[in-house]
Amino acid sequence: MRRIVTLSGIRCRLWCWRLFWSLLSVSTPIICADAKPVSFQHEIVPLLQQFCWGCHRPGKEKGGIDLTSYGALVKGGKHGPGIQVGHPDQSRLVEEISGTDPSMPKEGEHLSAQEVSLIERWIREGAQDDTTAASRESRSAPIYRAAPIIPSIAYSPMGPWLAVAGRGEVLIFNATNFLLTARLVGEARRIESIRFSPDGRKLAISGGQPGQWGEIQIWDVAAGTQLHAYRSTFDSVYGVDWSPDQTRIAFGASDRTARVIEVETGREVLKFDQHTDWVFGTAFLRDGQRLVSGSRDKSLRLVDISTGKLLETINRESETIRCLVRHPLEDWVLIGTDVRPRLFKAEVKKEHSDPNDDSNQLREFEHFDGGVTALAFSPDGQWIASSGSPAGEVRVYDAVSTSRKATLREHQGMVFALAFSPDGSQVATAGFEGIVRVFDWAKERLVTNFIPVEISCSK
Ligand code: HEC
Repeated sequence: MRRIVTLSGIRCRLWCWRLFWSLLSVSTPIICADAKPVSFQHEIVPLLQQFCWGCHRPGKEKGGIDLTSYGALVKGGKHGPGIQVGHPDQSRLVEEISGTDPSMPKEGEHLSAQEVSLIERWIREGAQDDTTAASRESRSAPIYRAAPIIPSIAYSPMGPWLAVAGRGEVLIFNATNFLLTARLVGEARRIESIRFSPDGRKLAISGGQPGQWGEIQIWDVAAGTQLHAYRSTFDSVYGVDWSPDQTRIAFGASDRTARVIEVETGREVLKFDQHTDWVFGTAFLRDGQRLVSGSRDKSLRLVDISTGKLLETINRESETIRCLVRHPLEDWVLIGTDVRPRLFKAEVKKEHSDPNDDSNQLREFEHFDGGVTALAFSPDGQWIASSGSPAGEVRVYDAVSTSRKATLREHQGMVFALAFSPDGSQVATAGFEGIVRVFDWAKERLVTNFIPVEISCSK
């Protein structure tokens, strides 16, 4: 009895499958017409990345067109807009990739007929930019199997917060009792640097998806909400800073540029391209009109933001620059090189006897084996904290006399993140180990240490 039932069940299933296949074979176009609109983020961007970004990206815009962001694609190149919304047949981009001998990609494999028609369909459907919607969908708090490497840490200058960068998120702690108060989860999986706005209410994050896109995020910390997220370049972005009036954000990029964008609109107001290697750090001067950028190419450049002009190369370009921070009260910039911390006046040199002179250097600090991995100024500018090798040693110096005042030795690995508390009495550290440590630095005493995330042990 049971067997018969089973048999008929099988038969029914077979029949269903046959019907399904026959329907599928005759009705393919109907299925397609019913399908969801083409997604720019999930379907078009991967094609552009594979076939076009090699020659059409920031810093290498063949034909004047950058195809790494929606805005740039629409804007187009030398011959005008890249697309006409709703009209694939009038869109330059489609014209370049269609026909029997398409002119784009200029070299290498061409797009298949299906890929071309996907792009046409996206334009016909209104060329929607679903980048943000798609990112909202994919956003969920990360789950950790191990303590994450912590690239950056910051105290709010006013509020009660200590921000700690994790993997794809920034964790906000109460700076007094070190309880977790919020998790700011954005789309970028990699975070490179974080910085509070001068009023201490907002947090800027730089990071991205390595090899794909860079992102600047702006958060309202008390509300725990993301105010803006802007894409730039084709790789993670570094060394974020706020203009003193909080209207602009600067950052550095692996495409050898230092950039400035407007906080409210994301509009780019500076793209400085006179570095020859990755730009790791940026700092606005007090007037908000000039920017300092430091690069792996060893140069520390002073740039006029409104004209984009290079005003001065501040240093002697002898050591690779890994990080930088401005003095809180002066137009002085502290750099961490592969040798030591050095402090410079960020101004045009008095005499130009030798373009490679070091007349703007104010002080140099002790040597670090293997170089400097993180730097911080105390809020009054009196002290600097610096770390490097021997693995994870953190030292605090008198910023004027350059003498060492404290050595903090608890760490078992490189320290990538340092910050002074608003009153300057404590230093928070973090890095390779994934442990946040807070020190009463003058006493060389550990106040607390904690892993900032919950580690899940289940598979
Ligand atoms: C190997 C380099 C290379 C690749 C890859 C490439 N292009 Fe180009 N592209 C160029 C060059 C060079 C030009 C300048 C015009 C010319 O010489 O034909 C250009 C021009 C264009 C223009 C015209 C811009 C204007 O306003 O004049 C468009 C649109 C374009 N490319 C789209 C694409 C698309 C879409 C892809 C990917 C499917 C792509 N390109 C891949 C090299 C390339």
